[in-house]
Amino acid sequence: MAEIIVNGGKQLTGEIAVQGAKNSVLPVLAGAVLCDGECVIHNCPNLSDVQSSIKILRNFGAKVSYQDNTVTVDCRSIEKYEIPESLMREMRSSVVFLGGIIGRTKRAIISNPGGCELGPRPIDLHLSALKKLGVEIYEEHGFLNCNAEKGLYGTEIHLAFPSVGATENVILTAATAKGVTVIHNAAREPEISDLADFLNSAGARIYGSGSDTIYIHGVDKLHGTTHTIIPDRIVAATYMSAAAITGSKLNLSHIMPSHMVAILHTFRESGCDISVKGKALTITAPKRLSRVPTIRSLVYPGFPTDAGPLLISMLAMAKGTTVFIENIFENRFRYINELNRLGANIKTEGKVAVIEGVNSLSGAKCVCPDLRGGAALVVAALSANGQSEIDNISHINRGYDDITGVLASVGADIKTKE
Ligand code: EPZ
Repeated sequence: MAEIIVNGGKQLTGEIAVQGAKNSVLPVLAGAVLCDGECVIHNCPNLSDVQSSIKILRNFGAKVSYQDNTVTVDCRSIEKYEIPESLMREMRSSVVFLGGIIGRTKRAIISNPGGCELGPRPIDLHLSALKKLGVEIYEEHGFLNCNAEKGLYGTEIHLAFPSVGATENVILTAATAKGVTVIHNAAREPEISDLADFLNSAGARIYGSGSDTIYIHGVDKLHGTTHTIIPDRIVAATYMSAAAITGSKLNLSHIMPSHMVAILHTFRESGCDISVKGKALTITAPKRLSRVPTIRSLVYPGFPTDAGPLLISMLAMAKGTTVFIENIFENRFRYINELNRLGANIKTEGKVAVIEGVNSLSGAKCVCPDLRGGAALVVAALSANGQSEIDNISHINRGYDDITGVLASVGADIKTKE
Protein backbone atom coordinates (compact mmCIF):
# COMPACT_ATOMS: atom_id res chain seq x y z
CA MET A 1 0.00 0.00 0.00
CA ALA A 2 1.44 3.42 -0.90
CA GLU A 3 2.54 5.66 1.93
CA ILE A 4 3.80 9.22 2.35
CA ILE A 5 7.29 9.64 3.82
CA VAL A 6 8.15 13.00 5.41
CA ASN A 7 11.40 14.17 6.95
CA GLY A 8 10.29 17.12 9.03
CA GLY A 9 11.89 20.39 10.02
CA LYS A 10 12.27 22.01 6.61
CA GLN A 11 11.04 25.55 6.06
CA LEU A 12 8.84 26.15 3.02
CA THR A 13 9.30 28.90 0.47
CA GLY A 14 7.84 29.82 -2.89
CA GLU A 15 4.35 29.77 -4.38
CA ILE A 16 1.50 27.25 -4.61
CA ALA A 17 -1.32 27.54 -7.14
CA VAL A 18 -4.33 26.14 -5.29
CA GLN A 19 -6.42 23.46 -7.07
CA GLY A 20 -10.10 23.66 -7.95
CA ALA A 21 -12.67 22.77 -5.31
CA LYS A 22 -13.50 19.04 -5.00
CA ASN A 23 -16.82 19.91 -3.34
CA SER A 24 -17.76 22.05 -6.32
CA VAL A 25 -16.65 19.66 -9.08
CA LEU A 26 -18.87 16.85 -7.78
CA PRO A 27 -22.22 18.71 -7.84
CA VAL A 28 -21.31 20.48 -11.11
CA LEU A 29 -20.66 17.10 -12.78
CA ALA A 30 -24.05 16.01 -11.43
CA GLY A 31 -25.51 19.15 -12.99
CA ALA A 32 -23.99 18.27 -16.37
CA VAL A 33 -26.36 15.27 -16.42
CA LEU A 34 -29.23 17.73 -16.87
CA CYS A 35 -27.64 19.43 -19.89
CA ASP A 36 -28.73 18.62 -23.44
CA GLY A 37 -25.35 19.47 -24.92
CA GLU A 38 -21.61 19.29 -24.29
CA CYS A 39 -20.27 20.78 -21.03
CA VAL A 40 -16.62 21.82 -20.69
CA ILE A 41 -15.59 22.19 -17.04
CA HIS A 42 -12.18 23.71 -16.31
CA ASN A 43 -10.05 23.65 -13.12
CA CYS A 44 -11.10 20.14 -12.13
CA PRO A 45 -8.34 18.71 -9.91
CA ASN A 46 -7.05 15.20 -10.60
CA LEU A 47 -8.60 13.41 -7.59
CA SER A 48 -9.92 9.90 -7.05
CA ASP A 49 -13.34 11.44 -6.22
CA VAL A 50 -13.34 13.17 -9.63
CA GLN A 51 -12.39 9.90 -11.34
CA SER A 52 -15.20 8.13 -9.43
CA SER A 53 -17.65 10.79 -10.63
CA ILE A 54 -16.50 10.26 -14.20
CA LYS A 55 -17.12 6.51 -13.80
CA ILE A 56 -20.67 7.28 -12.60
CA LEU A 57 -21.32 9.53 -15.61
CA ARG A 58 -19.98 6.88 -18.01
CA ASN A 59 -22.13 4.30 -16.26
CA PHE A 60 -25.20 6.44 -17.08
CA GLY A 61 -24.08 6.38 -20.73
CA ALA A 62 -22.48 9.83 -20.92
CA LYS A 63 -19.39 10.53 -23.04
CA VAL A 64 -16.69 11.92 -20.71
CA SER A 65 -13.04 12.84 -21.15
CA TYR A 66 -10.53 14.27 -18.67
CA GLN A 67 -7.50 16.18 -19.98
CA ASP A 68 -5.28 18.78 -18.25
CA ASN A 69 -7.77 19.45 -15.42
CA THR A 70 -10.68 19.87 -17.88
CA VAL A 71 -13.65 17.52 -17.94
CA THR A 72 -15.64 17.43 -21.18
CA VAL A 73 -18.96 15.68 -20.72
CA ASP A 74 -21.85 15.04 -23.13
CA CYS A 75 -24.94 13.53 -21.53
CA ARG A 76 -27.17 13.51 -24.62
CA SER A 77 -26.83 9.74 -24.90
CA ILE A 78 -27.76 9.03 -21.28
CA GLU A 79 -30.32 6.27 -20.88
CA LYS A 80 -29.39 4.49 -17.61
CA TYR A 81 -30.22 5.78 -14.16
CA GLU A 82 -28.63 3.35 -11.70
CA ILE A 83 -25.49 4.01 -9.66
CA PRO A 84 -24.01 0.59 -8.90
CA GLU A 85 -23.34 -0.19 -5.26
CA SER A 86 -19.60 -0.49 -5.94
CA LEU A 87 -19.48 3.13 -7.12
CA MET A 88 -21.66 4.34 -4.22
CA ARG A 89 -19.25 2.67 -1.82
CA GLU A 90 -16.26 4.13 -3.67
CA MET A 91 -17.61 7.62 -3.02
CA ARG A 92 -20.48 8.19 -0.63
CA SER A 93 -20.98 11.75 -1.91
CA SER A 94 -22.29 10.09 -5.12
CA VAL A 95 -25.65 10.82 -3.51
CA VAL A 96 -25.39 14.27 -5.13
CA PHE A 97 -25.99 12.59 -8.52
CA LEU A 98 -29.50 11.71 -7.33
CA GLY A 99 -30.96 15.10 -8.23
CA GLY A 100 -29.22 15.24 -11.59
CA ILE A 101 -30.26 11.81 -12.83
CA ILE A 102 -33.83 12.20 -11.55
CA GLY A 103 -34.09 15.60 -13.23
CA ARG A 104 -32.87 14.05 -16.49
CA THR A 105 -34.53 10.61 -16.61
CA LYS A 106 -37.21 10.93 -13.92
CA ARG A 107 -35.77 7.71 -12.45
CA ALA A 108 -32.86 6.80 -10.17
CA ILE A 109 -31.68 3.69 -8.38
CA ILE A 110 -28.89 4.12 -5.85
CA SER A 111 -27.76 2.08 -2.90
CA ASN A 112 -28.21 3.88 0.39
CA PRO A 113 -24.82 5.63 0.76
CA GLY A 114 -24.53 4.66 4.41
CA GLY A 115 -22.07 6.21 6.77
CA CYS A 116 -18.42 7.05 6.37
CA GLU A 117 -15.44 7.75 8.60
CA LEU A 118 -17.08 10.98 9.82
CA GLY A 119 -20.26 9.43 11.10
CA PRO A 120 -23.63 8.03 9.97
CA ARG A 121 -24.08 10.70 7.26
CA PRO A 122 -27.91 10.36 6.97
CA ILE A 123 -29.69 11.59 3.83
CA ASP A 124 -33.14 12.07 5.36
CA LEU A 125 -33.18 15.77 4.44
CA HIS A 126 -32.38 14.93 0.81
CA LEU A 127 -35.15 12.33 0.57
CA SER A 128 -37.90 14.30 2.31
CA ALA A 129 -37.20 17.29 0.05
CA LEU A 130 -37.21 15.20 -3.14
CA LYS A 131 -40.51 13.60 -2.11
CA LYS A 132 -42.02 17.09 -1.78
CA LEU A 133 -40.91 17.80 -5.36
CA GLY A 134 -42.85 14.74 -6.57
CA VAL A 135 -40.28 11.95 -6.37
CA GLU A 136 -41.66 8.61 -5.17
CA ILE A 137 -38.95 6.79 -3.23
CA TYR A 138 -39.05 3.10 -2.27
CA GLU A 139 -36.34 1.79 0.04
CA GLU A 140 -35.74 -1.94 -0.34
CA HIS A 141 -32.74 -4.23 0.27
CA GLY A 142 -30.52 -1.20 0.94
CA PHE A 143 -31.44 0.43 -2.36
CA LEU A 144 -33.38 3.62 -3.03
CA ASN A 145 -35.69 3.25 -6.02
CA CYS A 146 -36.78 6.75 -7.12
CA ASN A 147 -39.53 7.49 -9.63
CA ALA A 148 -40.72 10.93 -10.81
CA GLU A 149 -42.56 9.81 -13.92
CA LYS A 150 -45.67 11.64 -12.70
CA GLY A 151 -43.60 14.83 -13.02
CA LEU A 152 -41.56 17.18 -10.84
CA TYR A 153 -43.36 20.20 -9.45
CA GLY A 154 -41.89 23.27 -7.75
CA THR A 155 -42.76 23.75 -4.06
CA GLU A 156 -41.62 25.35 -0.81
CA ILE A 157 -38.89 23.35 0.95
CA HIS A 158 -37.62 24.04 4.45
CA LEU A 159 -34.39 22.26 5.41
CA ALA A 160 -34.30 21.45 9.13
CA PHE A 161 -30.50 21.77 8.84
CA PRO A 162 -28.72 23.79 6.10
CA SER A 163 -27.26 20.64 4.57
CA VAL A 164 -24.85 21.27 1.67
CA GLY A 165 -25.72 18.05 -0.14
CA ALA A 166 -29.45 18.35 0.41
CA THR A 167 -29.42 21.95 -0.88
CA GLU A 168 -27.53 20.78 -3.99
CA ASN A 169 -29.90 17.87 -4.62
CA VAL A 170 -32.95 20.13 -4.35
CA ILE A 171 -31.43 22.65 -6.78
CA LEU A 172 -30.58 19.86 -9.25
CA THR A 173 -34.05 18.29 -9.04
CA ALA A 174 -35.94 21.61 -9.15
CA ALA A 175 -33.93 23.15 -12.03
CA THR A 176 -36.18 21.48 -14.66
CA ALA A 177 -39.30 20.98 -12.52
CA LYS A 178 -42.57 22.68 -13.42
CA GLY A 179 -42.99 25.89 -11.42
CA VAL A 180 -40.98 27.61 -8.72
CA THR A 181 -39.16 25.98 -5.80
CA VAL A 182 -38.08 27.98 -2.78
CA ILE A 183 -35.48 26.52 -0.41
CA HIS A 184 -35.65 27.98 3.09
CA ASN A 185 -32.67 27.52 5.43
CA ALA A 186 -30.50 26.63 2.43
CA ALA A 187 -26.77 26.00 2.83
CA ARG A 188 -24.74 29.11 1.95
CA GLU A 189 -21.38 27.50 1.09
CA PRO A 190 -19.54 28.94 -1.96
CA GLU A 191 -19.85 25.56 -3.68
CA ILE A 192 -23.64 26.04 -3.75
CA SER A 193 -23.17 29.34 -5.62
CA ASP A 194 -20.71 27.70 -8.01
CA LEU A 195 -23.30 25.02 -8.82
CA ALA A 196 -25.99 27.70 -9.37
CA ASP A 197 -23.62 29.72 -11.60
CA PHE A 198 -22.89 26.60 -13.66
CA LEU A 199 -26.58 25.72 -14.05
CA ASN A 200 -27.58 29.32 -14.87
CA SER A 201 -24.90 29.41 -17.59
CA ALA A 202 -26.68 26.34 -19.02
CA GLY A 203 -30.06 28.12 -19.04
CA ALA A 204 -31.36 27.52 -15.51
CA ARG A 205 -33.05 30.26 -13.50
CA ILE A 206 -31.68 30.07 -9.93
CA TYR A 207 -31.61 33.12 -7.67
CA GLY A 208 -30.38 33.75 -4.13
CA SER A 209 -27.59 31.17 -3.96
CA GLY A 210 -25.16 32.10 -1.19
CA SER A 211 -28.07 33.24 0.97
CA ASP A 212 -30.32 31.07 3.13
CA THR A 213 -33.25 31.38 0.69
CA ILE A 214 -32.86 30.13 -2.87
CA TYR A 215 -35.45 30.47 -5.67
CA ILE A 216 -35.43 28.00 -8.56
CA HIS A 217 -37.73 28.79 -11.51
CA GLY A 218 -37.97 25.48 -13.37
CA VAL A 219 -37.11 25.55 -17.10
CA ASP A 220 -37.88 22.97 -19.79
CA LYS A 221 -34.30 22.07 -20.61
CA LEU A 222 -30.68 23.05 -20.13
CA HIS A 223 -28.06 23.36 -22.87
CA GLY A 224 -24.33 22.71 -22.90
CA THR A 225 -21.98 25.30 -21.39
CA THR A 226 -18.44 26.07 -20.26
CA HIS A 227 -17.54 26.65 -16.62
CA THR A 228 -14.47 27.10 -14.42
CA ILE A 229 -14.58 25.57 -10.93
CA ILE A 230 -13.89 27.87 -7.96
CA PRO A 231 -10.70 27.41 -5.93
CA ASP A 232 -10.66 24.89 -3.07
CA ARG A 233 -10.77 26.90 0.17
CA ILE A 234 -9.97 23.83 2.32
CA VAL A 235 -6.92 22.89 0.26
CA ALA A 236 -5.81 26.54 0.56
CA ALA A 237 -6.21 26.27 4.36
CA THR A 238 -4.16 23.06 4.26
CA TYR A 239 -1.15 24.68 2.58
CA MET A 240 -1.49 27.70 4.86
CA SER A 241 -1.31 25.41 7.89
CA ALA A 242 1.82 23.78 6.41
CA ALA A 243 3.45 27.23 6.25
CA ALA A 244 2.21 28.12 9.75
CA ILE A 245 3.53 24.98 11.45
CA THR A 246 6.97 25.22 9.77
CA GLY A 247 7.47 28.92 10.53
CA SER A 248 7.53 29.72 6.81
CA LYS A 249 6.57 32.49 4.44
CA LEU A 250 4.53 31.15 1.51
CA ASN A 251 2.56 32.60 -1.40
CA LEU A 252 -0.76 31.06 -2.48
CA SER A 253 -2.33 31.94 -5.84
CA HIS A 254 -5.65 30.97 -7.48
CA ILE A 255 -7.65 31.46 -4.28
CA MET A 256 -10.90 33.28 -3.45
CA PRO A 257 -10.18 35.19 -0.21
CA SER A 258 -13.86 36.12 0.10
CA HIS A 259 -14.61 32.38 0.59
CA MET A 260 -12.07 32.18 3.41
CA VAL A 261 -12.96 34.98 5.84
CA ALA A 262 -13.38 32.73 8.90
CA ILE A 263 -10.26 30.75 7.95
CA LEU A 264 -8.08 33.86 7.48
CA HIS A 265 -9.36 35.32 10.76
CA THR A 266 -8.33 32.18 12.65
CA PHE A 267 -4.85 32.11 11.11
CA ARG A 268 -4.37 35.76 12.08
CA GLU A 269 -5.51 34.95 15.64
CA SER A 270 -2.73 32.34 15.77
CA GLY A 271 -0.14 35.04 15.03
CA CYS A 272 0.26 34.58 11.27
CA ASP A 273 0.61 37.69 9.10
CA ILE A 274 -1.55 37.34 6.00
CA SER A 275 -1.53 39.86 3.19
CA VAL A 276 -4.19 39.42 0.53
CA LYS A 277 -3.80 40.79 -3.00
CA GLY A 278 -6.63 39.96 -5.43
CA LYS A 279 -6.76 36.16 -5.84
CA ALA A 280 -3.48 35.57 -4.02
CA LEU A 281 -2.12 35.83 -0.50
CA THR A 282 1.17 35.71 1.36
CA ILE A 283 1.22 34.01 4.75
CA THR A 284 4.14 34.75 7.09
CA ALA A 285 4.24 32.56 10.16
CA PRO A 286 5.67 33.73 13.51
CA LYS A 287 8.56 31.86 15.10
CA ARG A 288 5.99 30.18 17.32
CA LEU A 289 2.22 30.17 16.85
CA SER A 290 -0.08 31.47 19.56
CA ARG A 291 -3.01 29.47 20.82
CA VAL A 292 -6.48 30.39 19.56
CA PRO A 293 -8.66 30.35 22.71
CA THR A 294 -11.76 28.81 21.12
CA ILE A 295 -12.61 27.67 17.57
CA ARG A 296 -16.12 26.44 16.75
CA SER A 297 -16.94 24.68 13.46
CA LEU A 298 -20.16 26.03 11.99
CA VAL A 299 -22.04 26.10 8.71
CA TYR A 300 -20.83 28.72 6.23
CA PRO A 301 -19.87 31.53 6.69
CA GLY A 302 -18.69 30.17 10.05
CA PHE A 303 -15.42 28.29 10.46
CA PRO A 304 -15.63 25.21 8.18
CA THR A 305 -15.53 21.75 9.77
CA ASP A 306 -13.22 20.53 6.98
CA ALA A 307 -10.51 23.02 7.99
CA GLY A 308 -10.69 21.92 11.64
CA PRO A 309 -8.14 19.08 11.39
CA LEU A 310 -5.62 21.38 9.68
CA LEU A 311 -5.89 24.12 12.33
CA ILE A 312 -5.78 21.58 15.18
CA SER A 313 -2.65 20.06 13.65
CA MET A 314 -0.77 23.36 13.40
CA LEU A 315 -1.93 24.54 16.85
CA ALA A 316 -0.50 21.35 18.39
CA MET A 317 2.79 23.31 18.39
CA ALA A 318 1.34 26.66 19.54
CA LYS A 319 2.16 28.41 22.80
CA GLY A 320 -0.82 27.77 25.05
CA THR A 321 -4.06 25.81 24.89
CA THR A 322 -6.71 25.90 22.15
CA VAL A 323 -10.23 24.55 22.51
CA PHE A 324 -11.91 23.27 19.33
CA ILE A 325 -15.64 22.54 19.31
CA GLU A 326 -16.89 20.39 16.39
CA ASN A 327 -20.54 21.11 15.69
CA ILE A 328 -21.08 19.41 12.32
CA PHE A 329 -19.90 15.78 12.30
CA GLU A 330 -20.13 13.19 15.04
CA ASN A 331 -16.85 11.46 14.36
CA ARG A 332 -14.40 14.12 13.20
CA PHE A 333 -11.60 13.49 15.73
CA ARG A 334 -10.40 10.03 14.69
CA TYR A 335 -7.05 11.44 13.49
CA ILE A 336 -6.22 12.93 16.88
CA ASN A 337 -4.86 9.69 18.35
CA GLU A 338 -2.54 9.61 15.35
CA LEU A 339 -1.48 13.24 15.94
CA ASN A 340 -0.68 12.30 19.54
CA ARG A 341 1.59 9.51 18.22
CA LEU A 342 3.59 12.35 16.62
CA GLY A 343 3.95 13.95 20.05
CA ALA A 344 0.93 16.21 20.19
CA ASN A 345 -0.92 16.58 23.47
CA ILE A 346 -4.61 16.66 22.53
CA LYS A 347 -7.53 15.36 24.56
CA THR A 348 -11.05 14.93 23.20
CA GLU A 349 -14.33 14.65 25.04
CA GLY A 350 -17.38 14.29 22.75
CA LYS A 351 -17.35 17.19 20.34
CA VAL A 352 -14.60 19.10 22.17
CA ALA A 353 -10.85 18.81 21.57
CA VAL A 354 -8.39 20.47 23.97
CA ILE A 355 -5.04 21.12 22.27
CA GLU A 356 -2.18 21.73 24.74
CA GLY A 357 0.62 23.24 22.67
CA VAL A 358 3.93 21.33 22.80
CA ASN A 359 7.43 22.54 21.94
CA SER A 360 8.12 19.88 19.36
CA LEU A 361 6.72 16.87 17.53
CA SER A 362 8.64 13.73 16.64
CA GLY A 363 8.33 11.60 13.53
CA ALA A 364 6.36 8.36 13.74
CA LYS A 365 4.36 5.84 11.73
CA CYS A 366 0.72 6.89 11.50
CA VAL A 367 -2.44 5.96 9.59
CA CYS A 368 -4.95 8.25 7.87
CA PRO A 369 -8.52 7.71 9.17
CA ASP A 370 -10.18 10.08 6.67
CA LEU A 371 -9.51 12.78 4.10
CA ARG A 372 -8.86 15.89 6.21
CA GLY A 373 -7.48 13.91 9.15
CA GLY A 374 -4.92 12.45 6.75
CA ALA A 375 -3.95 15.91 5.52
CA ALA A 376 -3.58 16.98 9.17
CA LEU A 377 -1.05 14.19 9.72
CA VAL A 378 0.99 15.38 6.72
CA VAL A 379 0.97 18.94 8.10
CA ALA A 380 2.16 17.78 11.53
CA ALA A 381 4.86 15.55 10.00
CA LEU A 382 6.31 18.58 8.16
CA SER A 383 7.42 20.02 11.49
CA ALA A 384 8.14 16.78 13.38
CA ASN A 385 11.79 15.96 14.10
CA GLY A 386 12.84 12.93 12.08
CA GLN A 387 10.93 10.74 9.65
CA SER A 388 7.19 10.06 9.56
CA GLU A 389 5.50 7.34 7.51
CA ILE A 390 1.83 8.02 6.79
CA ASP A 391 -0.23 5.07 5.63
CA ASN A 392 -3.72 4.63 4.11
CA ILE A 393 -3.17 7.67 1.89
CA SER A 394 -6.01 6.77 -0.48
CA HIS A 395 -8.12 9.00 1.78
CA ILE A 396 -5.85 11.95 1.01
CA ASN A 397 -5.88 11.25 -2.73
CA ARG A 398 -9.68 11.72 -2.68
CA GLY A 399 -9.28 15.45 -2.09
CA TYR A 400 -5.69 16.54 -2.81
CA ASP A 401 -4.14 16.68 -6.28
CA ASP A 402 -0.52 15.55 -5.78
CA ILE A 403 -0.08 16.87 -2.22
CA THR A 404 3.48 15.48 -2.03
CA GLY A 405 4.51 17.05 -5.35
CA VAL A 406 3.04 20.40 -4.32
CA LEU A 407 4.72 20.45 -0.90
CA ALA A 408 8.04 19.20 -2.30
CA SER A 409 7.92 22.07 -4.83
CA VAL A 410 8.10 24.56 -1.95
CA GLY A 411 10.91 22.79 -0.09
CA ALA A 412 9.33 20.02 1.98
CA ASP A 413 11.24 16.73 2.23
CA ILE A 414 8.26 14.57 1.29
CA LYS A 415 7.57 11.77 -1.16
CA THR A 416 5.09 9.03 -1.90
CA LYS A 417 6.50 5.50 -1.58
CA GLU A 418 4.52 3.03 -3.73
C1 EPZ B 1 -20.46 18.41 2.35
O1 EPZ B 1 -20.88 17.17 2.88
C2 EPZ B 1 -19.01 18.22 1.99
N1 EPZ B 1 -18.89 17.15 0.99
C3 EPZ B 1 -18.21 17.86 3.24
O2 EPZ B 1 -16.84 17.81 2.86
C4 EPZ B 1 -18.37 18.98 4.26
O3 EPZ B 1 -17.69 18.63 5.44
C5 EPZ B 1 -19.86 19.18 4.56
O4 EPZ B 1 -20.56 19.45 3.33
C6 EPZ B 1 -20.11 20.33 5.52
O5 EPZ B 1 -19.61 21.51 4.98
C7 EPZ B 1 -19.14 17.45 -0.29
O6 EPZ B 1 -19.54 18.55 -0.63
C8 EPZ B 1 -18.94 16.33 -1.28
P1 EPZ B 1 -24.05 18.22 5.07
P2 EPZ B 1 -22.47 16.91 3.12
O7 EPZ B 1 -25.18 17.56 4.36
O8 EPZ B 1 -23.26 17.52 2.04
C9 EPZ B 1 -26.30 16.16 8.69
C10 EPZ B 1 -14.71 16.91 2.74
O9 EPZ B 1 -13.87 16.78 3.64
N2 EPZ B 1 -27.28 15.71 7.68
O10 EPZ B 1 -23.99 19.71 5.12
O11 EPZ B 1 -22.64 15.46 3.39
C11 EPZ B 1 -25.00 15.38 8.56
O12 EPZ B 1 -25.08 14.15 9.28
C12 EPZ B 1 -16.15 16.56 2.98
O13 EPZ B 1 -14.48 17.40 1.63
C13 EPZ B 1 -28.45 15.10 8.10
O14 EPZ B 1 -28.67 14.89 9.30
O15 EPZ B 1 -22.67 17.71 4.48
C14 EPZ B 1 -23.97 16.30 9.16
O16 EPZ B 1 -23.98 16.17 10.57
C15 EPZ B 1 -16.33 15.88 4.30
N3 EPZ B 1 -29.36 14.68 7.17
C16 EPZ B 1 -24.52 17.68 8.81
O17 EPZ B 1 -25.89 17.51 8.44
C17 EPZ B 1 -29.15 14.87 5.83
O18 EPZ B 1 -30.03 14.49 5.01
C18 EPZ B 1 -23.76 18.34 7.65
O19 EPZ B 1 -23.99 17.58 6.53
C19 EPZ B 1 -27.95 15.50 5.42
C20 EPZ B 1 -27.04 15.92 6.35
